[in-house]
Amino acid sequence: MKEIVHEMFSEEQVAERIAQLAGQINEKYREEPLHLICILRGSVFFFTELAKRLTMPVTIDFMAASSYEDGTVSTGKLEIRKDLDDPIEGRHCLIVEDIVDTGKTLCMVKKMLQARNPASLEICALLDKPSRREAEIETEYIGYEVPDQFIVGYGLDYAQKYRNLPYIGVLEFEE
Ligand code: PRP
Repeated sequence: MKEIVHEMFSEEQVAERIAQLAGQINEKYREEPLHLICILRGSVFFFTELAKRLTMPVTIDFMAASSYEDGTVSTGKLEIRKDLDDPIEGRHCLIVEDIVDTGKTLCMVKKMLQARNPASLEICALLDKPSRREAEIETEYIGYEVPDQFIVGYGLDYAQKYRNLPYIGVLEFEE
């Protein structure tokens, strides 16, 4: 089967949307130091672009978490492949994700991080697929709502491919 990617949001559109999101976050936190938490691997491209546009003092950390094991069905069990390096107690934290699908991953990550007593804990996701939601999760900042299609690019993969596409696309299969 041949894989074809159709562009959904161009590189320029994504850059503009990220600048808008950063504007909202700058407005909210003003001069307050913000600790950014990148959920590897998908959010890495979005994370760096967003971080560069924030104007408060920013620190960063990384966590690799998945509720998917190897397949495409969320297991509902969170596997932490890499935990944060630094404590978050008393800090204003922003979790940065590429996509909220069933919501299970973020739900579990948020619960786990909330238990470490941050001063605040918000979520910024580039994409939201509300039609797939199974776990209720509040997201403060969302780039785009997307339909239930196979989204790739800008960090999102299909079998680990396409993450480096500079745009967001829909993957289709042809005979
Ligand atoms: C993807 C994505 C989110 C999660 C969203 O990660 O980055 O973390 O799935 O799905 P959910 O809302 O149904 O939980 P994945 O486990 O595929 O890892 P990756 O970021 O390395 O691609």
